[in-house]
Amino acid sequence: MAKIFFPKFLLLSLTTFIFITTKTHSFIKPISPTNLGLHKPQKLSHLRFFFHDIIGGKNQTAVRVAASPTTEKSPTGFGAVVMMDDPLTEEPESDSKIVGRAQGIYASASQTEVGFLMVLNFAFTTGKYNGSVLSVLGRNKVDSAVREMPIVGGSGLFRFASGYAQASTHSIIGLEAIVEYNVYVFHY
Ligand SMILES: *[C@@H]1O[C@H](CO)[C@@H](O)[C@H](O)[C@H]1NC(C)=O
Ligand SMILES: *[C@@H]1O[C@H](CO)[C@@H](O)[C@H](O)[C@H]1NC(C)=O
Repeated sequence: MAKIFFPKFLLLSLTTFIFITTKTHSFIKPISPTNLGLHKPQKLSHLRFFFHDIIGGKNQTAVRVAASPTTEKSPTGFGAVVMMDDPLTEEPESDSKIVGRAQGIYASASQTEVGFLMVLNFAFTTGKYNGSVLSVLGRNKVDSAVREMPIVGGSGLFRFASGYAQASTHSIIGLEAIVEYNVYVFHY
């Protein structure tokens, strides 16, 4: 008797469990892409701008906020974490029109080469892109001619964005590195 009763009891508990689970997940429901205007085909855009990273002086834009006790001894500065708020300009010159800012973190993540973990937002401030953001999460081996980093998402006009950014150093003048970015993104 007990042998028969036990599985029945289990089945009942399982049914109750599934029922409760379905109920508590009512915060999620499928909707149609048209609800968000996502029925239109995606656009592919190419953005080109120049990133100015200034690590010291009067107009410093990037500050080291953390390091490991071993960072100074490491040939790659392994463990250093830098917070940036770098202007993005239309042309390489520092007085060229600012189109946005690169705000985020780069951190020395390799013990064998200068390879940064890049976690940042390109926050645009111009025209119809004012307030829209592209988010980058990638690896930047700074001595490579071209470094590619994924665009993992965006907001505003860049909702559902995906693509990649290619960075190549334009020049290094004193404490300022000027980097050309070519970004290719799908978005709606
Ligand atoms: C800092 O920025 C101002 C305004 O862009 C510029 O005039 C000045 O030359 C810069 N100073 C340095 C040390 O780069
Ligand atoms: C961008 O948006 C901000 C906040 O809405 C506004 O203050 C600023 O004037 C705008 N800039 C441009 C260039 O439109």
